[in-house]
Amino acid sequence: MTGPHPFHTFMGEAIALARRGRWRAAPNPTVGAVLVRDGQVMARGYHTACGMPHAEVECLRDATANGVDPAGCTLVVTLEPCNHHGKTPPCSQAVLAAGIRHVVVGMADPNPVAQGGAEFLRQHGVRVDVGVREQDCRDLVADFVTWKLTDQPYVILKLASTLDGRIATRAGHSQWISCAASRRRVHGIRAGAGHAGGAVLVGGTTLFADNPLLTARCCDFSDAFPAAPQGDCSRVDGADAPRRQPLAVAVTSRMDEVAARAGELALLQQRASDTIFWTTEHAATSLAADTVRATGARVWGLPVTSDTTGTSDTAGARLDLRAGLARLRAEAGCLYVLCEGGGQLGLALLEAGLVHEFELHLAPKVLGDNAARPLFDGRAPLRMDDALGLRVAATAPSGEDIIVTLRPGDCF
Ligand SMILES: NC(=O)c1ccc[n+]([C@@H]2O[C@H](COP(=O)([O-])OP(=O)(O)OC[C@H]3O[C@@H](n4cnc5c(N)ncnc54)[C@H](OP(=O)(O)O)[C@@H]3O)[C@@H](O)[C@H]2O)c1
Repeated sequence: MTGPHPFHTFMGEAIALARRGRWRAAPNPTVGAVLVRDGQVMARGYHTACGMPHAEVECLRDATANGVDPAGCTLVVTLEPCNHHGKTPPCSQAVLAAGIRHVVVGMADPNPVAQGGAEFLRQHGVRVDVGVREQDCRDLVADFVTWKLTDQPYVILKLASTLDGRIATRAGHSQWISCAASRRRVHGIRAGAGHAGGAVLVGGTTLFADNPLLTARCCDFSDAFPAAPQGDCSRVDGADAPRRQPLAVAVTSRMDEVAARAGELALLQQRASDTIFWTTEHAATSLAADTVRATGARVWGLPVTSDTTGTSDTAGARLDLRAGLARLRAEAGCLYVLCEGGGQLGLALLEAGLVHEFELHLAPKVLGDNAARPLFDGRAPLRMDDALGLRVAATAPSGEDIIVTLRPGDCF
């Protein structure tokens, strides 16, 4: 077939619906569906939360509510209808029972337990087209695939940059590069990650320079991707505060400095029991670490990566971030990790192949100072072939900024 599939646009609607379920659907995949007849969307559904009906069933319910007979419709769904009894009965059977004769699927189910829905429907005479807007549909469930196939949480890197690629001035000042709408959006992601059981991660330099609290200051994370959430983000507490805040994780070998500044660090003063420090195994056994633990915070000793240029137990040691992330998932149940920088930590994650999604908030500002903190720094490639390659998955305006969503080139 040449040109886009006739249901390409309707798949776009199903994808937009699916995104509404992000954070709440975890650890299930986000899925959206529409029923189409005569070029019109007749019913809509998405997987609203784990344990709730799947998108196809929600869509069939919506059809009933709208007085629409699904039998005359094409079902357009981002993920192959499941073919097994999980928390809910198989969607493949519900689709067949509804009399639907044509199903358009974004991608085959990557879950071996649930797959087979397309084959089941075909065996019962239903026409099934698979692979419409497949990459977009794969991006939708990249978190789910990460949880299924690896021991890692799904990592979102977010950095705000000037047009000339700077994340802070030479004095370390970075508040604010991005506009209010972009910052609101970040709070929406924090709230979503908190809801799903997640953490916000920062590097040691950011910890000491910004003294961040890393809480979500608004709870509206519905549809937080890609549109910026609305609402008042100026308050930490109150009616708008999310019920569950993300954990805070800071990566630093400088336990002495953390202990010395315990009285002023917002994380230790206001939410120590939600805070975890990743440090060297040596520093984790120090008196300074005990001082930090006395505040209620956790201190985890991590191995140092073999490619470190520093000696293993000195300041500036490169910690094994993969090990830290695996432990966050295993011990703290973190499904999502939002890394909010800085650039050194972001680059280390990217180089280690640990970033699943990178949100670059590009502000229309120019510092024009070579000594200002760069977005990324520390590599020395001689050829363009040695550059880290990313794929642009989406771009969207956000107030005065542009948000570019990137994914690893070889992302699932
Ligand atoms: N525009 C933005 O979006 C944004 C976001 C965040 C921060 N900022 C600004 O950026 C500046 C800080 O950024 P930065 O790039 O200089 O530093 P950073 O990424 O915040 O912190 C780097 C530090 O993280 C620790 N670390 C431990 N293991 C590591 C590993 N494997 N890889 C990398 N780091 C590891 C080290 O801390 P130790 O040396 O303590 O061991 C390292 O020095 C601040 O001025 C801040 O205000 C801007």
